[in-house]
Amino acid sequence: MTTRGILSLKRATLSASRPTRGASNAIHTERLLGPTKASVVSKRNIHPAQRQARSFTMAADTTTVTDSNPFEQLSYLRKVATASPFISVKAAPPEASEFQFPLATRFKAPNREVGLSMASMYAQAIREHGICAIEMGWPDPDSQFMLDVISKMGCNPDTHSSTQGALWDVKFKPEGVYSEGIGKKAVSISHSMGEFAWHTDAAFEENPTRFFGFHIIHPDKKGGGVFRILRADDLTRLLSPEAVGVLSNHEFELKVPPEFFKGKDSVKGKLLEVDTAMGRAYVRFRKDILHDPLSADANANAAVKELNDLLDAPEGVGEHVPGFVFKEDSVLLMDNARYLHSRTDIKDPKRWLRRVRFHGPP
Ligand SMILES: [Fe+2]
Repeated sequence: MTTRGILSLKRATLSASRPTRGASNAIHTERLLGPTKASVVSKRNIHPAQRQARSFTMAADTTTVTDSNPFEQLSYLRKVATASPFISVKAAPPEASEFQFPLATRFKAPNREVGLSMASMYAQAIREHGICAIEMGWPDPDSQFMLDVISKMGCNPDTHSSTQGALWDVKFKPEGVYSEGIGKKAVSISHSMGEFAWHTDAAFEENPTRFFGFHIIHPDKKGGGVFRILRADDLTRLLSPEAVGVLSNHEFELKVPPEFFKGKDSVKGKLLEVDTAMGRAYVRFRKDILHDPLSADANANAAVKELNDLLDAPEGVGEHVPGFVFKEDSVLLMDNARYLHSRTDIKDPKRWLRRVRFHGPP
């Protein structure tokens, strides 16, 4: 992490530690903000979870940190993250193909109010790492918390199609949803029990959705539906420079699946974008929306073949999101352009995720 990243994370930590309405001045920040801004702690109307937040902040806040020493800052942040009851830190060693969540990308929200008070930290996690997981301490059958978090981060949800709104149920739904494009119902892969190969969401839209979120209502409890992710940065490292060049420059014709019809049957777009200034790669891809045969351009065909061979390789690429994160009453927020994702065959017909796609800040 860069010094700038550390500083911004530190700011986000401080920002999220600020008291919520109804518990003003509940968090002590004297050592970080300086003695002239020493807080006055009020004991009025403090929720137990906020009292917990206060005690964690005070306990972690015993080290003098100078902005000029990044090692000191990193050590301080690790201490804060480990001490916080709202930031999850996994102690056990990970499995070989298990995605390791970077520091301060997993959170615990004991209730709605505390969960929403950390929205700036979620945004920071998405900005820095493209991923954020929130473990909720309560059931939320309408997925209202996920919608409220998105709104609090300054984002707006996208509609899924001309007939479907912001929320989309990812569950076994063999009857499908109505499509204006074909004038009858269409069944999405997300409504099947089958595998969903590597893709980004809404890759067939003129402006693909930038972020998406899952509210995990019922994970697959029979070992199927394993959610896997692959960083676009890693993808570009695994591809040849020639393929990266072609995928970043060629305009591909992309078919719009009928269940996501919004007025057009196909769009054009590049599959990769490399931001050399930021050192980041962005991707849009879904194998079954590309034409077959692809095009008359031999270089484009070769680059897509290399990409498909890499993603379809039996030894596999990417990592799975572990079950202790992808679990009931959790929300997973992702940058749809910085990761491909996939899922294995579903074994539990009750598996049920609720999805939202959104754009705007982070
Ligand atoms: Fe997806």
